Amino acid sequence: MAADSLVYLLGRGAPRAPDRDTLEAWGRALGAVLPRPVVVTLEGDLGVGKTTLVRAICVGIGVSAIEAVTSPTFSIIQQYDAPRGPVVHADLYRLRSDAELALLGWDEVVDSAPVLLVEWPDRAENTLPRDSIHVVLAHDPESADRRLLRIHAPTLR
Ligand SMILES: Nc1ncnc2c1ncn2[C@@H]1O[C@H](COP(=O)(O)OP(=O)(O)O)[C@@H](O)[C@H]1O
Ligand SMILES: [Mg+2]
Repeated sequence: MAADSLVYLLGRGAPRAPDRDTLEAWGRALGAVLPRPVVVTLEGDLGVGKTTLVRAICVGIGVSAIEAVTSPTFSIIQQYDAPRGPVVHADLYRLRSDAELALLGWDEVVDSAPVLLVEWPDRAENTLPRDSIHVVLAHDPESADRRLLRIHAPTLR
C-alpha cells in the first residue's frame, strides 16, 4: 500500500506517540490525501494539540492564509479558502446549547462543507455523519513532548 495513502495514514502510518513535529508531518500528509466531502473530528483535553493538528491538516490541504487557523475566543465556525474548495473549522468548546448550534446553521454546515474539521465534537453529538474520521489525542504520561494518537475511521478499515 502506498505510504501516503489515506488508509495507510489512518492505520499503520499513524504515529502512536508523536512529538509535535511528527504530529504536524502526519497532519500535513493526511490533509494532502483527504477525500471530499469529509468530516474529521478531533477529541482531547484543552492544550493537547487539536488546533495544532487542524493547522497541519490545513497546510496539507493547501490553505494559504494558514495564520488564520487558530481557535479565536469568539468564533465557533471559521472558513478558510483552499485550492479545491473551502475548509470549515469548527471549535465547539464554547458552545452553550443545541439552540446555539441551530442558530449557526450547523446542519447546513455539516451537509455542505467539502472539508469539515471539528474540535470538541461531543458538543454536537448525533449531528455528525457516522463515517467521519475520528481523531483522539491524549497527553502522554511518559513524556511532556509527546501525545497519544488514536484514530477511528469505521468506513475506511
Ligand atoms: N506532541 C505534541 N503535539 C501537539 N502539540 C504539542 C505537542 N507537544 C507540545 N505541544 C504543544 O501543545 C499545545 C497544543 O495547543 P493546541 O493545539 O491549541 O491544543 P488544543 O486545540 O487541543 O486545545 C501547543 O502549544 C503545542 O506546541
Ligand atoms: Mg483548539
